[in-house]
Amino acid sequence: MLKVGIIGVGTISELHINPYLNNDKVNLVAFCDVNEQRLKEKGALYGVKHLFADYNELLNADTVDAVSICTWNNSHAEIAIAALEAGKHVLVEKPLSMTIEEARAVEAAVEKSGKVLQVGFVRRHGNNAKLLKTFLDHDEFGEIYYAKASCIRRLGNPGGWFSDRTKSGGGPLIDLGVHMIDICWYFMGKPTPVSVSGNTYKRLGNRSHIQNLSFYKAADYDPTQNDVEDLTNAMIRFDNGASILVDVSFTLHAKKDEIYVKLFGDKGGAEIEPELAIVTEKHNTILNVMPQIDSISFDFNQAFSNEINHFVDCCLEGKENIAPVSDGVQVMRMLNAIYESAETGKEIYL
Ligand SMILES: NC(=O)c1ccc[n+]([C@@H]2O[C@H](COP(=O)([O-])OP(=O)(O)OC[C@H]3O[C@@H](n4cnc5c(N)ncnc54)[C@H](O)[C@@H]3O)[C@@H](O)[C@H]2O)c1
Repeated sequence: MLKVGIIGVGTISELHINPYLNNDKVNLVAFCDVNEQRLKEKGALYGVKHLFADYNELLNADTVDAVSICTWNNSHAEIAIAALEAGKHVLVEKPLSMTIEEARAVEAAVEKSGKVLQVGFVRRHGNNAKLLKTFLDHDEFGEIYYAKASCIRRLGNPGGWFSDRTKSGGGPLIDLGVHMIDICWYFMGKPTPVSVSGNTYKRLGNRSHIQNLSFYKAADYDPTQNDVEDLTNAMIRFDNGASILVDVSFTLHAKKDEIYVKLFGDKGGAEIEPELAIVTEKHNTILNVMPQIDSISFDFNQAFSNEINHFVDCCLEGKENIAPVSDGVQVMRMLNAIYESAETGKEIYL
C-alpha cells in the first residue's frame, strides 16, 4: 500500500483525492493546507485524520510515502524539493515551478533522492491521448513537424492567486499554455527547443463585471487583484526544424470558448482536441478517421484517474514515468522564454 498525503486541498485537489480513494493500492492518510478552515472541512469530508497547516510537519511526521502537491505555483518547487529530501515520491501539479532555475533545482533533488517525481501533465493521460500515442508509436504519422494549439477562454480568469503574478508566475500562458505546449511537444517526440517568439497582451482586465457565464475559479476567488496577461501567443522552433504555434487566453472578445490541438506529420495528421481524429490517405484519397471509443474528447475525471493510477504504479511497481522532471524542465524553458520574448519584443534563443 502507498500512504499518500495531499498538500493544498483547494479546487483541483478534488481530482486527486477521489482517484486516490478509488485506488485499492492507496491509503489516503494526510492533508495539508495553510487555510485551516478548509483543511478541517476537507479532512472531515473525506475522513482523513492527519491534518497539517505546515507542509514540513506533514513531511516529517513519517505518515506518508508520497505526496500530491496542489498548491499555488510559487510553492511547487520548494515543497517538491523538501518532499524529495524527506524521501517521499512526488506528483506535482503543473507547472513544475515558476522559473527555470527552480525547475533545475527540483531536477537536481530528484536525481539525488532517486524518488519518483511526476509532473501533472494530465492531458498526456486522457484516453484520447493514450489511444493516439499507440498510433504514433506505430509510426502512423511519420515525423510531426508542425503543431498548432489554442485554448481560448472568452471569460475565465480564475482570480485569486492565479491573477497575482508573484504566486502564479503569469496568466494564461503558465496556466493553460503549459498544457497546450506540453501535449504538442510530447507528441512531436520531445525535440529540443531552440528559439521562441511570443506576445502577451493585458488589454481587457479580468472582466469580472460580465454576468451569466460560469468558469473555473480558485478556492479563494478574488477578482480585485489582476496583474497577469489576458492573452499570449507564441511560435516555438525546435532543433529538428519542427515548430509549434500556440495561443491561449483568460479573456478575449471571442465569439465562443475554443480549444484545439492539431498535429501535422509527413505521413499523416491528428487532432487530439476538441475531438480525436486521424487524418491519413489511401488509394489517392484523403481519409478523416474517427476512432470509436467511449470518450472521443478529453475527459477531466478520467484523465486525472489515469494520471493518479500511473503515479501509484510508478511508486509501487517501478513503472516507467511518462511525465518525468526533465520534461517539466524543458516545458519551463519554453514558458519562461515566451515571457522574456514578450517583454523584450525579441526572439529568444535558448
Ligand atoms: N492539471 C490541471 O488541469 C489543473 C487544473 C487546475 C489547477 N491546476 C494546478 O493546481 C494547483 C492548485 O490550483 P487550484 O485551482 O486547486 O488552486 P486553489 O486556490 O483552489 O487551491 C490551492 C490550495 O493550496 C493552498 N496552499 C497554497 N499555498 C500553500 C502552501 N505553501 N502550503 C499548504 N497549502 C497551500 C491554498 O490555501 C488552497 O487551499 C496550481 O498549481 C494549478 O496550476 C492544475
